[in-house]
Amino acid sequence: MILLDGKSLAQEMQESIATEVQQLSTHGIIPSLAVILVGNDPASQTYVNMKARACKQVGITSILHEMPKNITQQDLITMIENLNQNDKLDGILVQLPLPKHIDTYEILESVCPQKDVDGFHTQNSGKLFSGVKGFVPATPLGIMTLLKHYNIELQGKNVCIIGASNIVGKPLGALMLNKNATISICHIHTQNIQFYTKNADIICVAVGKPNLITKDMVKEGAIIIDIGITRLESGKIVGDVDFAHVAPICSYITPVPGGVGPMTIVSLLRNTLESTKNRLNR
Ligand code: GUN
Repeated sequence: MILLDGKSLAQEMQESIATEVQQLSTHGIIPSLAVILVGNDPASQTYVNMKARACKQVGITSILHEMPKNITQQDLITMIENLNQNDKLDGILVQLPLPKHIDTYEILESVCPQKDVDGFHTQNSGKLFSGVKGFVPATPLGIMTLLKHYNIELQGKNVCIIGASNIVGKPLGALMLNKNATISICHIHTQNIQFYTKNADIICVAVGKPNLITKDMVKEGAIIIDIGITRLESGKIVGDVDFAHVAPICSYITPVPGGVGPMTIVSLLRNTLESTKNRLNR
């Protein structure tokens, strides 16, 4: 069994991003990202802080806009439209989930697609589904980068993705399909998930339920990508896989923490730098 060490790869990538950012800064160009956080959900605050810290480490300017949870749809859109107009700003990220009274789709559609470093605008998700270059959501992009780094081939593989969100499951499925894998996307209404996992060469799980994937659900030699993050009462961070029993029968597996999480963060940095370079070429 080989651990897919996202932490080390993300560190390496951060160093090369920092070098590029440094080179740009000698020309007076500073990549910059606006992060919008609505309300005070503790998990979202943690993620936003992690993103801000990573930006700082590589020299990307990040500006956090903390908005009250009762902000109106229109005020949020007006704010995003102002950020769209700001020529010095390369990326705009709206942290999800948004409060229930907000129409998330409409908010994400109001972000200028050229600054949509999260890849959630339909112009970018449409490109992804058409196999055309655009911004790709950070978690799926990080997973693809990790698999590529370990020379894991996707063509002809059976992939089971558990979790059909717009943020992870659906875009990950599209990316892997574009690499000629055969994809099953399971979700809460799927009957007999084990039927799919047992047949899978690669299992990607993004549910947020500790020990959802047990040894009896996994084929010997499978590759496991664990995208779940749960903080137990003890404070320990765990994924969705019963790691102690599943890891020994896998060929490769991501640890939690230290697998997909760091790759997500570094992918956001990469997208932001990409956006800066696009701006310079426009
Ligand atoms: N909430 C959970 N994951 C993400 C993400 O990748 N981006 C944003 N903006 N919100 C999230």
